Amino acid sequence: MSGDVHVAIERDADIVTARQRGRELAREVGFSGTEQTLITLAISEIARNIVSYARRGGMTLTRVQDAGRSGISIVARDEGPGIPDIELAMRDGYSTGKSLGVGLPGSRRVVDEFVLTSTVGVGTTITMKKWLR
Ligand SMILES: Nc1ncnc2c1ncn2[C@@H]1O[C@H](COP(=O)(O)OP(=O)(O)OP(=O)(O)O)[C@@H](O)[C@H]1O
Ligand SMILES: [Mg+2]
Repeated sequence: MSGDVHVAIERDADIVTARQRGRELAREVGFSGTEQTLITLAISEIARNIVSYARRGGMTLTRVQDAGRSGISIVARDEGPGIPDIELAMRDGYSTGKSLGVGLPGSRRVVDEFVLTSTVGVGTTITMKKWLR
């Protein structure tokens, strides 16, 4: 059983590391191959946003247990510019980076719990959890 996994996110190679560590932990927790792929998708999107918009940050991947359920928790933190309008940023197709604008809403769809807190000038924290069925 592994404990918390911390990955510093600053460049593209770190996104690959976070994906790999996330997939390993998801497999250990017991998620199916398809679920592992969904989890790594969310990890990539959130890590890519850190590199693109905040330049650097970190991600903590943890096995979680609650009321007999097992799952995975992914907490991403940065001290970047923050998000002024979270509701707008969560909309499909909204991007300030001339991209598709599907990273945040797509990530939210593939996990069970998604909490985004952000303060302009302070940074952004995103907590995602996915539970085993
Ligand atoms: N960590 C962050 N710090 C600051 N702003 C962010 C952060 N993550 C997302 N955003 C803002 O939220 C917007 C929406 O993010 P989202 O990931 O959904 O789309 P995108 O990154 O623009 O495009 P895509 O992910 O589809 O390539 C971004 O364009 C950016 O303005
Ligand atoms: Mg994105």
